Amino acid sequence: MRTLRLTDEVRDFSRAEKRNGRSVALVPTMGYLHDGHMSLVAAAKEAADVVIVSIFVNPTQFGAGEDLDKYPRDVERDLELCRSAGVDAVFLPETSTIYPENHATSVEVDETLTGVLCGRFRPGHFKGVATVVSILFNVCEPDVAVFGQKDAQQAVVIERMCRDLHFPVKIIVSPIIREKDGLALSSRNTYLTPAQRKQAPVLKSALDEAVMMYNQGERDVEKILTSVKKKLAASPLARPQYVELVSAKDLQPVKKVDSKALLALAVFFGSTRLIDNVILAPDSLE
Ligand code: PAJ
Repeated sequence: MRTLRLTDEVRDFSRAEKRNGRSVALVPTMGYLHDGHMSLVAAAKEAADVVIVSIFVNPTQFGAGEDLDKYPRDVERDLELCRSAGVDAVFLPETSTIYPENHATSVEVDETLTGVLCGRFRPGHFKGVATVVSILFNVCEPDVAVFGQKDAQQAVVIERMCRDLHFPVKIIVSPIIREKDGLALSSRNTYLTPAQRKQAPVLKSALDEAVMMYNQGERDVEKILTSVKKKLAASPLARPQYVELVSAKDLQPVKKVDSKALLALAVFFGSTRLIDNVILAPDSLE
């Protein structure tokens, strides 16, 4: 496995592979890898011949007062996990490599997609994400890139950015990987105290409640949201930031679940913010 730190190194690596007829997949991450990330690596291996994992804690997607400084890091362990998973190259740039002095260009996807859900509470976050993913695409030149459904809004934003800017990259969105008790894997789970960790699966049980209602024929968004909020309220340590049901296609609010809909929520436990989501009406053609 190669460990590459410079943009020319990773671009040369990717181009050489493609010259030899091999397709290249990129899995962008911020490191502190867990089984959720590794499931993206497995999907990338299915989709392409060669897999590059990027590990870069992107400062431009963290707001003031967010956890940039304390974001968990363990590069040695990450490299070992990538090696065992058969990753071909890890791109491990310095901040100054991605954002050289006087870097002055950003990529902004329209507010209709980036100003809702998480974007409403994290101004500038998706601008940072779209900018770094554009840079990673330009540097790694992948044929395919894999993102997690865990960050559902991020996946929609990246798909739209890719389409609008004509990036020749196929986007694959991979399912959410969970702990046995339902908590979605996240690097931020390590921040939880034992008491908070015990109550954190309430995100999943609240989503399950909605799925159950949907399966029993309920289509009224207000009724579904009320039940989800009630379920969350039963956990004293959970402080919901938002619970929303939107169109899965364009993230706009809906009143009835009559086409593919995204039920997304963000919940604080102390200062730790957890997100989770589920798609309702997954078989709908719209
Ligand atoms: P990070 O939070 O490290 O996540 C990297 C990728 O792993 C994302 O596509 C995310 O959706 C996916 N992922 C995280 N937890 C998952 C889980 N439990 N199951 C499945 N996939 C999961 O997302 C980012 O980094 C950054 O915003 C990035 C795209 C790298 C840009 O900086």
